[in-house]
Amino acid sequence: MDKFLIRGGKALRGTVAISGAKNSALPAMAAALLTAEKVAVHNIPKVRDLITMGKLLTFMDAKVTVTEMPASDYVIEAPALNHAEAPYELVKTMRASILTLGPLMARLGVARVSLPGGCAIGARPVDLHLSALEKMGAEIAMSHGYIEAKVPGNGAKGGRLKGAHIVFEKITVTGTENILMAATLADGETVLENCAREPEVTDLIVMLRKMGAEIAGDGTATLRIRGVRELHGTEHSVIPDRIETGTFLVAGAITGGDLTITNCQPEHQAAVIAKLQQTGASIITVDQTTLRVRGGGKLVAADMTTEEYPGFATDMQAQYMALATQVEGTSLITETIFENRFMHASEMIRMGANISVEGRRAVVHGPAVLSGSTVQASDLRASAGLVLAGLVASGETVIDRVYHIDRGYEGIVEKLRAAGADIERVHGTVL
Ligand code: EPZ
Repeated sequence: MDKFLIRGGKALRGTVAISGAKNSALPAMAAALLTAEKVAVHNIPKVRDLITMGKLLTFMDAKVTVTEMPASDYVIEAPALNHAEAPYELVKTMRASILTLGPLMARLGVARVSLPGGCAIGARPVDLHLSALEKMGAEIAMSHGYIEAKVPGNGAKGGRLKGAHIVFEKITVTGTENILMAATLADGETVLENCAREPEVTDLIVMLRKMGAEIAGDGTATLRIRGVRELHGTEHSVIPDRIETGTFLVAGAITGGDLTITNCQPEHQAAVIAKLQQTGASIITVDQTTLRVRGGGKLVAADMTTEEYPGFATDMQAQYMALATQVEGTSLITETIFENRFMHASEMIRMGANISVEGRRAVVHGPAVLSGSTVQASDLRASAGLVLAGLVASGETVIDRVYHIDRGYEGIVEKLRAAGADIERVHGTVL
C-alpha cells in the first residue's frame, strides 16, 4: 500500500491549479445513463472514484471512451442498458454508485443497486432516496444486500416513474441529485422541497437542462421538474473542486506561505474564506477564477460549525482542524452533518495536537508543536487534514493508507511539491 512521506516546515509558495470537482463529475457521469445519445463530460478529475464510475457504467453496458487513463475527458454512450445493476464489488469501493439508481429508474423503470452500507464517517443511510422513489411509484425491496426497485406495469420491463411532491426530511446532496435525475423523465411534474443547494447540484441542473430537461429553482431549496419523454446528448464541463480549493487555502495559511490558486470558483468558497479570514489569514480574490492566500502573520482561534451549503462544508472540517492546532487559542469545532467524522483527531493527537472530542464537538487548544509520526488515513478528507498537519510537523510524517486520498485529490503530491512542499509517495507492497 502506498504511503506519503512528508518532511514538514516548508512554506508553500507559487501557483496551484484546481482540478474538476469530484462530486460534480460523479453525478454528471451517472446522468449520461439518462439518454441513448452521446454525452461528453470534461474537466473530470483524474482520481480513483471517477475510474470506478467509468467501470460501473461499462458494467451496465454503456460504452465509455477515454483517450488516456486516467482521463479528464469521457465520452459515454448508453443506447441500450442491458445490465441495470450496480454490483457490490464496485459499490463497496464508492458509495456514490448510488447515483446510478435515479437515472436507471428514470430510463428503464427497473434497477438493482447494492446497498452501500456504513462507512468510516457514519452510517450514511439512503432511506431518503428510496422513499422519494416510492412516492414516484417505484416498488422497492431489499434482497441479498441489494436494493431492487421497479415501477410496476410494462411486464418484465419497468414502467415510467410519476411526478410527485417530495419534501426531503433531511438535506441530502446525492439524494437531491438522484431524485432530480429520476424526475427528468417522469410523467408529469415533480416538486422537491428541502433540497441541497450545493454548487454540485446546480452544476448537475445546468447539464440536465442542456440535455433537454425542464427544471426550475436552481440554487434554491425547492426544485420543480417537468418530466420530458426523452433527453438527448450533450457536452458538459464540470465546475472546479471547491474542497480541493479550500484544502489549498488552508495549506497556504497553515504553512505561512503565499499561494495563488487558479482555475477555481471563488464564489463557492465564501464560508471557508470568511472563516480563514477570521483566523487572520489573508485571502484575496484576484479575479473570477483565482484566489491568493498568504499566511505568516499571527493566526488566532475561531469556532467553526459544519453546515450544508452555503455554510462551512463538512468536507473541509478535517483540514480546518489541522489549522486549529496551529492557531493561538481554543477552537470549538462542531460537526453537524456526519456522526463520526473526527477520526483524524486521534491521529493529530499522536502528532502532538491538543484536541478533545466529545460526541459531535472537538475542542482544539493551540498552538501545538506537532512532531512527525506515522499516522493512518481513515477517509478522504481526514487524509487531507493529516497531510496539512504533516506540512507543519517537525521531522518526518508517514501517512499510511493514502488510497483514501487518491479517491478524490488529483496529483496532490505533485501539486504540493511544485509549491515547495517536501512530500513524496512511497510505493509499498503488502507482504
Ligand atoms: C455528499 O454525500 C458528498 N458526496 C460527500 O462528500 C459530502 O460529505 C456530503 O454530501 C455532505 O456534504 C458526493 O457528493 C458524492 P448527504 P452524501 O446525503 O450525498 C443523512 C467527500 O469526501 N442521510 O448529503 O452521501 C446522512 O447520513 C464526501 O467527497 C440520511 O439520513 O451525503 C448525513 O448525516 C464524503 N438518509 C446527512 O443526511 C439519506 O437517505 C447528509 O448526507 C441520505 C442522507
